[in-house]
Amino acid sequence: MVSGCALSFAAGPFVEADEGMWLPSLISGRIADMQSKGFHLEAKDIYDINQASLKDAVVLFGRGCTGEVISPEGLLLTNHHCGYGQIQKHSSVEHDYLKDGFWAMSRDEELPNKGLTVSFLERMDDVTEVVLKGYDTSMSEDERNAIVSRNSAVLIKKATEGGNGLRATVESLYYGNQYFIFIYKEFQDVRLVGAPPSSIGKFGGDTDNWMWPRHTGDFSIFRIYADKDNNPAAYSEDNVPYRPKRYFSISTKGVSEGDFTFVYGFPGRTQEYIHSDGIRYLENIGDPEKIKLRTLKLDIQKKYMSSSQKVRIQYSSKNASVANSWKKWQGEVRGLAKMHTADRKSAYEAEFEKWAAGTEYEGITSKLAGLYREIEPYSMAYDFYTETARSIELARFAESIAALYRAGNFNKSRIEETAGTFFKDYYLPIDKETFISMMEQFGKKLPEDLKPDYFTDEMQRHGSAEKWAEELFSKSVFTDIETVSRLEETDSSAVMNDPAVQYGRRFSEWFNESIRPEMTRLNNELLLMYRTYMKGQMEFAQASGRGTDQFYPDANLTLRVAYGKVSGYSPADGIDYLPHSTIQGIMEKDNPDIFDYNIPQRLRDLYASGDYGRWAGESGSVPVCFIATNHTTGGNSGSPVINADGELVGINFDRVWEGTMSDLEFDPDVCRNIALDIRYVMFTIEKIGNASYLFDEMSFSR
Ligand code: ARG
Ligand code: GLU
Repeated sequence: MVSGCALSFAAGPFVEADEGMWLPSLISGRIADMQSKGFHLEAKDIYDINQASLKDAVVLFGRGCTGEVISPEGLLLTNHHCGYGQIQKHSSVEHDYLKDGFWAMSRDEELPNKGLTVSFLERMDDVTEVVLKGYDTSMSEDERNAIVSRNSAVLIKKATEGGNGLRATVESLYYGNQYFIFIYKEFQDVRLVGAPPSSIGKFGGDTDNWMWPRHTGDFSIFRIYADKDNNPAAYSEDNVPYRPKRYFSISTKGVSEGDFTFVYGFPGRTQEYIHSDGIRYLENIGDPEKIKLRTLKLDIQKKYMSSSQKVRIQYSSKNASVANSWKKWQGEVRGLAKMHTADRKSAYEAEFEKWAAGTEYEGITSKLAGLYREIEPYSMAYDFYTETARSIELARFAESIAALYRAGNFNKSRIEETAGTFFKDYYLPIDKETFISMMEQFGKKLPEDLKPDYFTDEMQRHGSAEKWAEELFSKSVFTDIETVSRLEETDSSAVMNDPAVQYGRRFSEWFNESIRPEMTRLNNELLLMYRTYMKGQMEFAQASGRGTDQFYPDANLTLRVAYGKVSGYSPADGIDYLPHSTIQGIMEKDNPDIFDYNIPQRLRDLYASGDYGRWAGESGSVPVCFIATNHTTGGNSGSPVINADGELVGINFDRVWEGTMSDLEFDPDVCRNIALDIRYVMFTIEKIGNASYLFDEMSFSR
């Protein structure tokens, strides 16, 4: 069944059930609803700038995950897949922490991680007026952008004057109808404390990824260190564990179907108010083309990874990130199709236009449609460029060295360090085969007039992508750590003329000259239209009696509250899913012959003897994961899942496959976040890691 008036409103921005990612500083507007759904605390318990509140126990982990503090000594939980890069960096064939897990048995054994930061939100404020000071609507979008950057820079400078790790950003909400400043305290000394073996932390691998029922123990443990005054400081042996303003206490009583839950974290990106043609591009072109390209890449990686443990370690992190979006996009396309999102958005747009006749909003939806038609080839070129030429590892590495030369910044030890990091995880046959496959696709799929001459010439000159790769990979100095380490300052022209550097440079010149300007111009126009359309959608809702309190700004990696309840769902006719899984299911999936399902012997033994300690649930089994209706997205990984009393009951780590279109449209029937039950975390720490000494600093409540 498609469109029709009765259905049309459902595709508009009218929040149903538990949809929404709310700004913590405005949570008083939702608190009555939260309480009516079972929450026992007040708005100021969630966000308060005068005294400690739950927000002070939540961090942005790196620049893409969330974490939560669980002890007065800076102990931090996040996902295994969020700490994966760090765990992998400390791993080698001799000390394979990915495979065997890692547990510091004392503070001295905690491992520092260069480059890893965590940020606490100090406060957030509406700064729309200041940011737009000097702007009037007669100005161009470029002038507006200049004013916004200038005013923001002043605000940021002022907000961070105190130093001590303060960092601030000004973010646009509702397509620039509103601006907020976010002021963070950023810590740089964050050490790895523990991680289960991947056979627990990544149990089910990419087969179970994005799926329910799930049995992944997706957690890792870190500790934040500060200087003696409790302020952020670069790594130093003299640093001491950070004393947080607030930390979570851990509830061991678990949650059941219908229980209130709330997720507090940093969702990355959603587009809930997007035009129907934006959906059509994603659903019919963007997602499907990227899926096809990634299928090819994954097949190549798999082939080499399955025949060598070394290569498997080298590519585990890269492979997981390629596979992750690849699978999510597939779920998203199916979800959008199933919901008829594009058609229902079209019907909503028709209603909108009826209302908009004679107002400043008249015709805006067809203007948006026109812009989407114009931008489509550029979006395609962009998608292909990023997924093909930009993903060749050799070219990216070569470029990073060339950049040093170009900046007149020759530095031998810097080059050696960059090369060391690169070659530790580089396997040339994978990269070369990927190069061949991606260049073939680029040639086949992109319209002739969009391709760079460089590409066409090289293909002609060599006769095939394979021959091209043959020459490029044999002539480049960047394929070998020895030749790279021998580079001298005088080699500048050799570096600049290296075929791998040329490859990256010629592609990026093409992109910057032939694609980017027009794409940016059109994107600016889109943004401008969306700003008006967004405002119009709110007025339309108001005028139609639906009110505007259901609007929430799209995710932009700023702190949000999502709340809902523990709930199963029906993924398809004839199937009903329960909302939790147990250790029983791990045993059912256990299979020593399949890498992703081969659990540690220790876990088998614990199951056989029923040695669950205090971590068994009411059924007598250890609870592993649960699902709920909280509206989450990428970035929410590692977020605390909190019960009605503000206690930690789980760690968010995924969504169900049938619901991955929630970045574009939320379907309360099937959109579920997946959380790791905190009791399985504790069970693993105690029984697998033998690290129950960590419990001494935590606080538990029934
Ligand atoms: N799907 C989850 C997320 O989007 C987990 C990804 C990591 N796991 C994996 N098997 N690749 O980040
Ligand atoms: N695993 C995701 C992350 O890394 C969360 C899942 C989602 O997209 O909801 O943030």
